[in-house]
Amino acid sequence: MLNPFKLERYFAQHEFSARFLLCTSDCESMTVGELLALDQDKDSNTIELDSTWLGYTESRGNPALRQTIGGLYEGIDADAVLLHSGAEEAILNFCLATIESGDPVIVNTPCYQSLQEIPRSLGASVMPWQLRNNGKRWELDLACLGAMLEKTSKPPLVILNMPHNPTGALMSREEFAELIRLCRLHGATLLMDEVYRYLERDAAERLPAACEAYEKAVSLSVLSKAWGLAGLRIGWLASKDSQLLDKVASVKDYNSICASAPSETLALAAVRQTAVITAKNRQLCAQNTALFRQFFEKHENYFGWIPPVAGSVAFPWIRNCTAQASADRLARELLEDTGILLLPGSHYSFDPAYFRIGLGRAATGEALGLFDAWLDSKRL
Ligand SMILES: Cc1ncc(COP(=O)(O)O)c(C=O)c1O
Repeated sequence: MLNPFKLERYFAQHEFSARFLLCTSDCESMTVGELLALDQDKDSNTIELDSTWLGYTESRGNPALRQTIGGLYEGIDADAVLLHSGAEEAILNFCLATIESGDPVIVNTPCYQSLQEIPRSLGASVMPWQLRNNGKRWELDLACLGAMLEKTSKPPLVILNMPHNPTGALMSREEFAELIRLCRLHGATLLMDEVYRYLERDAAERLPAACEAYEKAVSLSVLSKAWGLAGLRIGWLASKDSQLLDKVASVKDYNSICASAPSETLALAAVRQTAVITAKNRQLCAQNTALFRQFFEKHENYFGWIPPVAGSVAFPWIRNCTAQASADRLARELLEDTGILLLPGSHYSFDPAYFRIGLGRAATGEALGLFDAWLDSKRL
Protein backbone atom coordinates (compact mmCIF):
# COMPACT_ATOMS: atom_id res chain seq x y z
CA MET A 1 0.00 0.00 0.00
CA LEU A 2 1.18 3.49 -0.82
CA ASN A 3 1.02 5.99 2.02
CA PRO A 4 -0.46 9.40 1.13
CA PHE A 5 2.00 11.72 -0.61
CA LYS A 6 2.26 14.43 2.06
CA LEU A 7 3.63 17.19 -0.15
CA GLU A 8 1.16 16.60 -2.98
CA ARG A 9 -1.79 16.50 -0.53
CA TYR A 10 -0.60 19.84 0.91
CA PHE A 11 -0.40 21.41 -2.56
CA ALA A 12 -3.76 19.93 -3.54
CA GLN A 13 -5.20 21.82 -0.56
CA HIS A 14 -3.44 25.17 -1.00
CA GLU A 15 -1.89 25.62 -4.45
CA PHE A 16 -4.92 27.18 -6.10
CA SER A 17 -6.16 29.24 -3.15
CA ALA A 18 -3.04 30.76 -1.54
CA ARG A 19 -2.25 34.29 -2.68
CA PHE A 20 1.53 33.82 -2.93
CA LEU A 21 3.23 30.49 -3.55
CA LEU A 22 6.58 31.01 -1.86
CA CYS A 23 7.53 27.32 -1.84
CA THR A 24 6.85 25.88 -5.31
CA SER A 25 9.54 23.96 -7.16
CA ASP A 26 8.35 24.70 -10.69
CA CYS A 27 9.54 27.88 -12.40
CA GLU A 28 7.32 30.62 -13.79
CA SER A 29 5.27 29.24 -16.68
CA MET A 30 3.97 30.71 -19.95
CA THR A 31 1.02 30.36 -22.31
CA VAL A 32 0.85 28.13 -25.37
CA GLY A 33 0.95 31.31 -27.51
CA GLU A 34 4.11 32.56 -25.78
CA LEU A 35 5.85 29.22 -26.20
CA LEU A 36 5.01 28.97 -29.90
CA ALA A 37 6.04 32.58 -30.49
CA LEU A 38 9.41 31.83 -28.88
CA ASP A 39 9.94 28.90 -31.19
CA GLN A 40 9.02 30.84 -34.33
CA ASP A 41 12.37 32.63 -34.25
CA LYS A 42 13.95 29.31 -35.07
CA ASP A 43 14.97 28.58 -38.67
CA SER A 44 13.64 25.04 -38.56
CA ASN A 45 10.01 23.98 -39.22
CA THR A 46 7.40 25.99 -37.41
CA ILE A 47 5.35 23.96 -35.01
CA GLU A 48 1.63 24.09 -35.55
CA LEU A 49 -0.64 22.97 -32.81
CA ASP A 50 -3.71 23.15 -35.06
CA SER A 51 -2.50 20.36 -37.31
CA THR A 52 -1.52 18.00 -34.46
CA TRP A 53 -3.27 14.67 -35.01
CA LEU A 54 -5.30 13.71 -31.94
CA GLY A 55 -4.96 9.94 -32.18
CA TYR A 56 -2.76 7.78 -29.95
CA THR A 57 0.92 8.60 -30.24
CA GLU A 58 3.89 6.22 -30.25
CA SER A 59 4.15 4.52 -26.89
CA ARG A 60 7.85 5.39 -26.44
CA GLY A 61 7.11 8.99 -27.40
CA ASN A 62 7.05 11.08 -30.57
CA PRO A 63 10.28 10.16 -32.46
CA ALA A 64 11.17 13.77 -33.37
CA LEU A 65 10.72 14.80 -29.74
CA ARG A 66 12.82 11.88 -28.47
CA GLN A 67 15.53 12.73 -30.93
CA THR A 68 15.55 16.38 -29.82
CA ILE A 69 15.65 15.31 -26.16
CA GLY A 70 18.50 12.90 -26.97
CA GLY A 71 20.38 15.92 -28.37
CA LEU A 72 20.46 17.41 -24.86
CA TYR A 73 22.85 14.60 -23.84
CA GLU A 74 26.17 13.23 -25.06
CA GLY A 75 25.85 9.79 -26.62
CA ILE A 76 22.07 9.46 -26.23
CA ASP A 77 19.89 8.92 -29.30
CA ALA A 78 16.11 8.76 -29.75
CA ASP A 79 16.03 5.04 -28.82
CA ALA A 80 17.68 5.75 -25.48
CA VAL A 81 14.83 8.07 -24.44
CA LEU A 82 11.51 6.84 -23.05
CA LEU A 83 8.84 9.51 -22.73
CA HIS A 84 6.43 9.68 -19.80
CA SER A 85 3.54 11.78 -18.60
CA GLY A 86 5.57 13.77 -16.08
CA ALA A 87 8.54 12.67 -14.00
CA GLU A 88 6.11 11.20 -11.51
CA GLU A 89 4.85 8.57 -13.97
CA ALA A 90 8.44 7.75 -14.89
CA ILE A 91 9.35 7.12 -11.23
CA LEU A 92 6.36 4.80 -10.78
CA ASN A 93 6.95 2.86 -14.00
CA PHE A 94 10.68 2.58 -13.34
CA CYS A 95 10.10 1.19 -9.84
CA LEU A 96 7.37 -1.24 -10.97
CA ALA A 97 9.69 -2.51 -13.71
CA THR A 98 12.85 -2.93 -11.67
CA ILE A 99 12.04 -3.57 -7.99
CA GLU A 100 11.05 -6.89 -6.45
CA SER A 101 10.17 -7.56 -2.85
CA GLY A 102 13.31 -7.71 -0.69
CA ASP A 103 15.53 -5.86 -3.18
CA PRO A 104 18.07 -3.50 -1.63
CA VAL A 105 17.38 0.13 -2.53
CA ILE A 106 19.55 2.98 -1.24
CA VAL A 107 17.69 6.30 -1.31
CA ASN A 108 19.21 9.68 -0.60
CA THR A 109 17.08 11.56 1.96
CA PRO A 110 15.33 13.89 2.57
CA CYS A 111 13.69 13.38 -0.81
CA TYR A 112 10.65 13.87 -3.00
CA GLN A 113 8.46 11.28 -1.31
CA SER A 114 7.80 8.97 -4.27
CA LEU A 115 11.52 8.19 -4.63
CA GLN A 116 11.38 6.45 -1.27
CA GLU A 117 7.73 5.55 -0.83
CA ILE A 118 7.19 3.63 -4.08
CA PRO A 119 10.18 1.29 -3.48
CA ARG A 120 8.99 0.78 0.12
CA SER A 121 5.47 -0.06 -1.04
CA LEU A 122 6.91 -2.69 -3.41
CA GLY A 123 8.56 -4.45 -0.49
CA ALA A 124 12.10 -3.22 -1.17
CA SER A 125 14.55 -3.07 1.68
CA VAL A 126 14.95 0.72 1.63
CA MET A 127 18.13 2.13 3.18
CA PRO A 128 18.08 5.90 3.71
CA TRP A 129 21.35 7.63 2.87
CA GLN A 130 21.25 11.05 4.50
CA LEU A 131 22.26 14.38 3.13
CA ARG A 132 23.66 16.40 6.06
CA ASN A 133 23.65 20.09 6.89
CA ASN A 134 27.24 20.70 8.02
CA GLY A 135 26.51 24.38 8.70
CA LYS A 136 28.10 25.52 5.42
CA ARG A 137 26.73 23.15 2.81
CA TRP A 138 24.45 20.16 2.38
CA GLU A 139 26.93 17.33 2.21
CA LEU A 140 26.73 13.94 0.54
CA ASP A 141 28.58 11.34 2.56
CA LEU A 142 30.06 9.12 -0.15
CA ALA A 143 32.06 7.06 2.36
CA CYS A 144 28.73 6.19 3.94
CA LEU A 145 27.34 5.19 0.52
CA GLY A 146 30.43 3.03 -0.03
CA ALA A 147 29.86 1.28 3.31
CA MET A 148 26.18 0.70 2.50
CA LEU A 149 27.07 -0.75 -0.91
CA GLU A 150 29.60 -3.11 0.74
CA LYS A 151 26.87 -4.54 2.95
CA THR A 152 24.25 -5.35 0.30
CA SER A 153 24.00 -9.01 -0.69
CA LYS A 154 23.10 -8.24 -4.30
CA PRO A 155 23.68 -5.17 -6.53
CA PRO A 156 21.31 -2.54 -5.22
CA LEU A 157 19.42 0.29 -6.83
CA VAL A 158 20.74 3.71 -5.80
CA ILE A 159 18.31 6.63 -6.05
CA LEU A 160 19.61 10.18 -5.89
CA ASN A 161 18.07 13.52 -6.81
CA MET A 162 20.65 16.13 -7.83
CA PRO A 163 20.31 19.18 -7.99
CA HIS A 164 18.44 18.44 -4.83
CA ASN A 165 14.88 19.04 -3.67
CA PRO A 166 14.41 20.41 -0.99
CA THR A 167 17.90 21.70 -0.13
CA GLY A 168 19.18 23.24 -3.38
CA ALA A 169 22.39 21.23 -2.99
CA LEU A 170 24.59 20.23 -5.90
CA MET A 171 27.42 17.75 -5.56
CA SER A 172 30.87 18.62 -6.95
CA ARG A 173 32.30 16.98 -10.07
CA GLU A 174 34.67 15.00 -7.84
CA GLU A 175 31.76 13.72 -5.76
CA PHE A 176 29.87 12.84 -8.94
CA ALA A 177 32.88 10.89 -10.23
CA GLU A 178 33.12 9.04 -6.91
CA LEU A 179 29.39 8.20 -7.00
CA ILE A 180 29.76 6.69 -10.47
CA ARG A 181 32.90 4.80 -9.42
CA LEU A 182 31.13 3.28 -6.42
CA CYS A 183 28.04 2.30 -8.42
CA ARG A 184 30.17 0.69 -11.13
CA LEU A 185 32.30 -1.15 -8.56
CA HIS A 186 29.22 -2.70 -6.99
CA GLY A 187 27.20 -3.17 -10.20
CA ALA A 188 24.47 -0.89 -8.82
CA THR A 189 21.77 0.56 -11.03
CA LEU A 190 21.55 4.33 -10.53
CA LEU A 191 18.31 6.28 -10.88
CA MET A 192 19.42 9.90 -11.02
CA ASP A 193 16.56 12.35 -10.69
CA GLU A 194 17.86 15.36 -12.62
CA VAL A 195 14.63 17.34 -12.87
CA TYR A 196 16.38 20.51 -11.58
CA ARG A 197 19.30 20.27 -14.01
CA TYR A 198 19.87 23.54 -15.95
CA LEU A 199 19.02 25.57 -12.84
CA GLU A 200 22.55 25.86 -11.45
CA ARG A 201 23.32 29.34 -10.04
CA ASP A 202 26.56 29.08 -12.01
CA ALA A 203 25.96 27.17 -15.26
CA ALA A 204 29.64 26.13 -15.23
CA GLU A 205 28.85 23.89 -12.24
CA ARG A 206 26.39 21.75 -14.22
CA LEU A 207 27.21 18.08 -13.76
CA PRO A 208 27.27 15.57 -16.58
CA ALA A 209 24.00 13.64 -16.79
CA ALA A 210 24.30 10.25 -15.11
CA CYS A 211 23.20 8.47 -18.31
CA GLU A 212 26.22 9.97 -20.09
CA ALA A 213 28.65 8.82 -17.44
CA TYR A 214 27.50 5.32 -16.51
CA GLU A 215 26.02 2.49 -18.57
CA LYS A 216 23.71 1.33 -15.75
CA ALA A 217 22.40 4.81 -14.95
CA VAL A 218 19.00 6.19 -15.82
CA SER A 219 18.58 9.97 -15.94
CA LEU A 220 15.15 11.33 -15.11
CA SER A 221 14.01 14.72 -16.37
CA VAL A 222 10.82 16.70 -16.98
CA LEU A 223 9.70 19.98 -18.52
CA SER A 224 8.03 21.13 -15.28
CA LYS A 225 10.95 22.73 -13.47
CA ALA A 226 13.75 24.33 -15.53
CA TRP A 227 11.41 24.91 -18.49
CA GLY A 228 8.47 25.96 -16.24
CA LEU A 229 6.04 23.88 -18.29
CA ALA A 230 4.50 21.60 -15.66
CA GLY A 231 1.12 21.65 -17.41
CA LEU A 232 2.52 19.77 -20.40
CA ARG A 233 3.18 16.75 -18.16
CA ILE A 234 6.10 15.64 -20.32
CA GLY A 235 8.99 13.85 -18.64
CA TRP A 236 11.44 11.16 -19.71
CA LEU A 237 14.00 8.55 -18.79
CA ALA A 238 17.29 8.47 -20.70
CA SER A 239 19.66 5.51 -20.48
CA LYS A 240 22.15 3.48 -22.47
CA ASP A 241 20.72 0.34 -20.83
CA SER A 242 18.22 -0.59 -23.56
CA GLN A 243 16.99 -3.73 -21.78
CA LEU A 244 16.09 -1.72 -18.72
CA LEU A 245 14.21 0.87 -20.79
CA ASP A 246 12.35 -1.99 -22.56
CA LYS A 247 11.19 -3.28 -19.17
CA VAL A 248 9.93 0.16 -18.16
CA ALA A 249 8.19 0.54 -21.54
CA SER A 250 6.28 -2.71 -20.83
CA VAL A 251 4.98 -1.22 -17.59
CA LYS A 252 3.97 1.99 -19.34
CA ASP A 253 1.50 -0.13 -21.35
CA TYR A 254 -0.41 -0.54 -18.07
CA ASN A 255 -0.22 3.13 -17.20
CA SER A 256 -0.53 6.11 -19.58
CA ILE A 257 0.27 3.96 -22.71
CA CYS A 258 1.42 7.09 -24.51
CA ALA A 259 1.76 10.81 -23.86
CA SER A 260 -0.77 13.48 -24.84
CA ALA A 261 -0.38 14.38 -28.54
CA PRO A 262 -0.73 18.19 -28.13
CA SER A 263 1.73 18.07 -25.23
CA GLU A 264 4.27 16.25 -27.37
CA THR A 265 3.91 18.89 -30.09
CA LEU A 266 4.41 21.72 -27.60
CA ALA A 267 7.23 19.85 -25.86
CA LEU A 268 9.11 19.76 -29.16
CA ALA A 269 8.95 23.56 -29.30
CA ALA A 270 10.10 23.76 -25.67
CA VAL A 271 13.03 21.37 -26.01
CA ARG A 272 14.17 23.13 -29.18
CA GLN A 273 14.23 26.34 -27.10
CA THR A 274 16.02 24.82 -24.10
CA ALA A 275 18.83 27.37 -24.06
CA VAL A 276 16.50 30.40 -24.10
CA ILE A 277 13.89 29.08 -21.67
CA THR A 278 16.25 27.63 -19.09
CA ALA A 279 18.50 30.73 -19.17
CA LYS A 280 15.47 32.88 -18.31
CA ASN A 281 14.49 30.64 -15.40
CA ARG A 282 18.08 30.28 -14.21
CA GLN A 283 18.27 34.06 -14.03
CA LEU A 284 14.96 34.32 -12.20
CA CYS A 285 16.14 31.78 -9.60
CA ALA A 286 19.40 33.73 -9.17
CA GLN A 287 17.54 37.03 -8.68
CA ASN A 288 15.19 35.47 -6.17
CA THR A 289 18.10 33.83 -4.34
CA ALA A 290 19.57 37.34 -3.92
CA LEU A 291 16.24 38.61 -2.52
CA PHE A 292 16.09 35.72 -0.05
CA ARG A 293 19.70 36.37 0.93
CA GLN A 294 18.78 39.94 1.99
CA PHE A 295 15.71 38.64 3.79
CA PHE A 296 17.65 35.99 5.74
CA GLU A 297 20.44 38.44 6.57
CA LYS A 298 17.88 40.78 8.13
CA HIS A 299 16.23 37.92 10.05
CA GLU A 300 19.38 35.97 10.88
CA ASN A 301 18.53 35.77 14.57
CA TYR A 302 15.39 33.88 13.73
CA PHE A 303 16.31 31.86 10.60
CA GLY A 304 19.31 29.93 9.36
CA TRP A 305 19.84 28.96 5.72
CA ILE A 306 22.34 27.49 3.31
CA PRO A 307 22.09 29.42 0.03
CA PRO A 308 21.07 27.04 -2.77
CA VAL A 309 23.75 26.11 -5.28
CA ALA A 310 21.27 24.87 -7.87
CA GLY A 311 17.61 24.20 -8.47
CA SER A 312 14.50 26.21 -7.65
CA VAL A 313 14.13 25.43 -3.93
CA ALA A 314 16.03 25.83 -0.66
CA PHE A 315 15.55 24.53 2.88
CA PRO A 316 15.99 27.17 5.62
CA TRP A 317 15.26 26.53 9.27
CA ILE A 318 13.99 28.25 12.42
CA ARG A 319 16.92 28.63 14.81
CA ASN A 320 15.21 28.08 18.12
CA CYS A 321 12.52 25.70 17.04
CA THR A 322 10.08 24.49 19.70
CA ALA A 323 6.68 22.83 19.44
CA GLN A 324 5.20 26.33 19.82
CA ALA A 325 7.49 27.80 17.17
CA SER A 326 7.84 25.06 14.56
CA ALA A 327 7.81 25.51 10.78
CA ASP A 328 4.32 23.94 10.72
CA ARG A 329 3.03 26.68 12.98
CA LEU A 330 4.90 29.42 11.12
CA ALA A 331 3.46 28.22 7.80
CA ARG A 332 -0.07 27.97 9.20
CA GLU A 333 -0.07 31.45 10.73
CA LEU A 334 1.68 33.09 7.77
CA LEU A 335 -0.86 31.59 5.38
CA GLU A 336 -3.81 32.69 7.54
CA ASP A 337 -2.52 36.25 8.00
CA THR A 338 -0.98 37.00 4.58
CA GLY A 339 -1.91 34.27 2.08
CA ILE A 340 1.77 33.29 1.66
CA LEU A 341 2.41 29.56 1.33
CA LEU A 342 5.53 27.91 2.79
CA LEU A 343 6.13 24.15 2.87
CA PRO A 344 7.03 22.77 6.34
CA GLY A 345 9.81 20.18 6.45
CA SER A 346 7.44 17.75 8.17
CA HIS A 347 6.10 17.02 4.67
CA TYR A 348 9.48 15.41 4.03
CA SER A 349 9.26 13.59 7.38
CA PHE A 350 12.16 15.88 8.35
CA ASP A 351 13.08 18.07 11.32
CA PRO A 352 10.12 20.39 12.14
CA ALA A 353 12.45 23.41 12.23
CA TYR A 354 12.93 23.30 8.45
CA PHE A 355 10.73 24.63 5.67
CA ARG A 356 11.01 24.75 1.89
CA ILE A 357 11.09 27.98 -0.08
CA GLY A 358 10.70 28.31 -3.85
CA LEU A 359 12.91 30.49 -6.06
CA GLY A 360 11.34 30.23 -9.49
CA ARG A 361 8.32 32.53 -9.33
CA ALA A 362 8.02 36.10 -10.58
CA ALA A 363 6.10 37.47 -7.57
CA THR A 364 8.81 36.54 -5.03
CA GLY A 365 9.82 40.14 -4.25
CA GLU A 366 6.27 41.15 -3.40
CA ALA A 367 5.70 38.05 -1.27
CA LEU A 368 8.97 38.54 0.61
CA GLY A 369 8.09 42.17 1.36
CA LEU A 370 4.86 41.00 2.94
CA PHE A 371 6.61 38.18 4.85
CA ASP A 372 9.19 40.68 6.15
CA ALA A 373 6.51 43.13 7.36
CA TRP A 374 4.63 40.26 9.00
CA LEU A 375 7.74 39.13 10.91
CA ASP A 376 8.38 42.73 12.02
CA SER A 377 4.79 43.04 13.21
CA LYS A 378 5.26 39.89 15.29
CA ARG A 379 8.63 41.22 16.50
CA LEU A 380 10.29 37.97 15.43
C1 LIG B 1 12.80 15.63 -7.27
C2 LIG B 1 11.52 15.54 -8.03
N1 LIG B 1 11.32 14.48 -8.84
C3 LIG B 1 10.17 14.34 -9.53
C4 LIG B 1 9.18 15.29 -9.46
C5 LIG B 1 7.89 15.11 -10.23
O1 LIG B 1 7.83 16.01 -11.31
P1 LIG B 1 6.45 16.18 -12.09
O2 LIG B 1 5.47 16.73 -11.10
O3 LIG B 1 6.72 17.17 -13.14
O4 LIG B 1 6.03 14.86 -12.61
C6 LIG B 1 9.35 16.40 -8.62
C7 LIG B 1 8.28 17.40 -8.48
O5 LIG B 1 8.29 18.25 -7.62
C8 LIG B 1 10.55 16.53 -7.90
O6 LIG B 1 10.79 17.56 -7.08
